[in-house]
Amino acid sequence: MPVATAVAHPNIALCKYWGKRDRALNLPSVGSLSLTLAPFSTTTTVEWGADFDELVLNGRTGTAAEASKVFGLLDLIDSWRPRVRVLTENDFPTAAGLASSSSGFAALALAATTAAGQKRSAEELSTLARRGSGSAARSIFGGWSEWKLGEREDGLDSYAFEIAPQDHWDVRMIVAIFDAGPKSISSRDGMLHTQQTSPYYPAWVQSAPRDLAEARSAIRNRDLAALGTVMERSALRMHACMMAADPAVLYWKSGSLWAQETVRMLRDQGIPCAWTMDAGPNVKVLVPAAHAGVVAARLARVAEQVHVLEPGGPARIVG
Ligand code: DP6
Repeated sequence: MPVATAVAHPNIALCKYWGKRDRALNLPSVGSLSLTLAPFSTTTTVEWGADFDELVLNGRTGTAAEASKVFGLLDLIDSWRPRVRVLTENDFPTAAGLASSSSGFAALALAATTAAGQKRSAEELSTLARRGSGSAARSIFGGWSEWKLGEREDGLDSYAFEIAPQDHWDVRMIVAIFDAGPKSISSRDGMLHTQQTSPYYPAWVQSAPRDLAEARSAIRNRDLAALGTVMERSALRMHACMMAADPAVLYWKSGSLWAQETVRMLRDQGIPCAWTMDAGPNVKVLVPAAHAGVVAARLARVAEQVHVLEPGGPARIVG
């Protein structure tokens, strides 16, 4: 029976994806840009040919909703596929705004196509992973990657590509966890609700291209001050947009605000750093490697847990 195991790292967006122009094809309303992060990873094994479709996620049977997303993606790989067994493990908290779906669907796309005997290019894998979860399109690549908005109605030009490799810039992303539990509302539901009810949504979509252009050039120039300005602006605008939804989507906790203030204070003291937040209360701080220890120690005063992550490599087959 053909079996393949793949590993992928989660990514954290610096220019955010929030909103879809096509729900069925999972096409975004804006382009986005991210950093893939190690050592956090998802390891996924796919057995292409089993007695029945089975999903085991972190040692438990997947829920019906999880299974339908996973087996739905496998149907896209081969509509005549056999029954398949999928075993997947995250070595970090699942569904806590730490982008577990990004590494999860990237590892699944690679393991499943390999087990099915298909050779796909990185672009094709990214397009496929996108169908499972948008942010997963970016986790096919290591280092700094951008997910193109694309123009085609069939979405075949909406995939990610590498802007700069893993070793381009010696930075760290410090993840300060204020609540490791599952999020109150999923990204998928939160972005749909925002799109449908927030009066700020059109402004969010309109403002995204400028953020992307500035972030690309800041990354190329290894300019943390410039990148920090863009990443905080993108995160604040995404959250402002969802806070203006009806009813509001509000992921922030008091610890989140404390961490943002701490980052501003550290910056005033001459330490280059900038924060971002996703669909959860946790705060991620980008900092040059040399300053990571000081920033992590400061965040550890209040955060439940602090993890220091570094640029990670692309999704890969390990067995
Ligand atoms: C806030 O990729 O999880 O992390 O495509 O519906 O699965 P779906 O959404 P998902 O959303 C991620 C949203 C975000 C920002 C980002 O990663 O760009």
